[in-house]
Amino acid sequence: MVSLHTPVMVEEVLYYLSPRKGGVYVDCTLGTGGHALAILEKTEGKVKLIGIDWDEEAIKIASQRLKNYRERVRLVRANFTRVEQVVKEQGLQKVDGFLYDLGISALQLDDFKRGFSFRKVAPLDMRMDTQQSITAEYLVNNLPQRELENILWEFGEERWARRIAEFIVKEREKHSISTTKELIDVLRKAIPAKFRRGKRIHFATRVFQALRIAVNRELDNLKMGLKVAVDLLSPGGRICVISYHSLEDRIVKREFKKVEGKELLLLTSRVVRPSREEIRTNPRSRSAKLRAAQRL
Ligand SMILES: C[S@@+](CC[C@H](N)C(=O)[O-])C[C@H]1O[C@@H](n2cnc3c(N)ncnc32)[C@H](O)[C@@H]1O
Repeated sequence: MVSLHTPVMVEEVLYYLSPRKGGVYVDCTLGTGGHALAILEKTEGKVKLIGIDWDEEAIKIASQRLKNYRERVRLVRANFTRVEQVVKEQGLQKVDGFLYDLGISALQLDDFKRGFSFRKVAPLDMRMDTQQSITAEYLVNNLPQRELENILWEFGEERWARRIAEFIVKEREKHSISTTKELIDVLRKAIPAKFRRGKRIHFATRVFQALRIAVNRELDNLKMGLKVAVDLLSPGGRICVISYHSLEDRIVKREFKKVEGKELLLLTSRVVRPSREEIRTNPRSRSAKLRAAQRL
């Protein structure tokens, strides 16, 4: 059974994107198509949608899910940093709205073989785009100790980053670290017992998050993607970004601020959060932060 991702803050996305008749909208993080479906349903035949995802599996599922809207939808497997090319290939110059719903989908997290979850034994993979060559296994077994430490510290805010990097390097001198379980065994040795127990989050959470961000170059992609998107927006067009991590939100805030008043009008002076009710029914939404802007 595949996991359909439950889209987050759908009402808010529709409000800020505010799709207009005849407009072209790009969902840069299509996933299993939850937001895309909501946009298509809501606009009753009045808009076109381009859906982008670099995960082949996501594209397959979304195209099945959106099949009733085939004439209005184009789905493309690509990194969203290539959105300009994708849009031009559709014969378009400008776009009326962009949606980014960052991070990984339930489809990816729940497919244990892909190594995003520390709850099952799986290869240390973590690629969202399975055609990419760099995996978490590659980083863990090849990066210099200092670089590993930086990744864990910066992308995971992991306080034991230095010790973990040290233990990883010691362990990989004996044998390569190839599975989620092997990595967790190293973490168990590196993180002192009293910091492993009784915490609100599992002791592997931050390390797995950091490696995932590094493998998929998530922050670089976001920075580059947003710049390109702002350039492609038509006057009055909207951009709406949902992030799940403070580093991502900082990038969105900064990129918007840089062009505020010149290219963009900020629609959300403060970040928008999911309602209590949404967090109760979909706990995965709890860290979501939405920011939106309009092209001047
Ligand atoms: C949180 S999910 C989106 C879920 C979607 N909104 C839905 O309703 O099903 C994020 C998706 O973005 C994709 N993604 C992340 N970074 C990407 C990038 N640089 N280029 C293309 N797709 C990306 C992931 O593969 C994943 O499927």
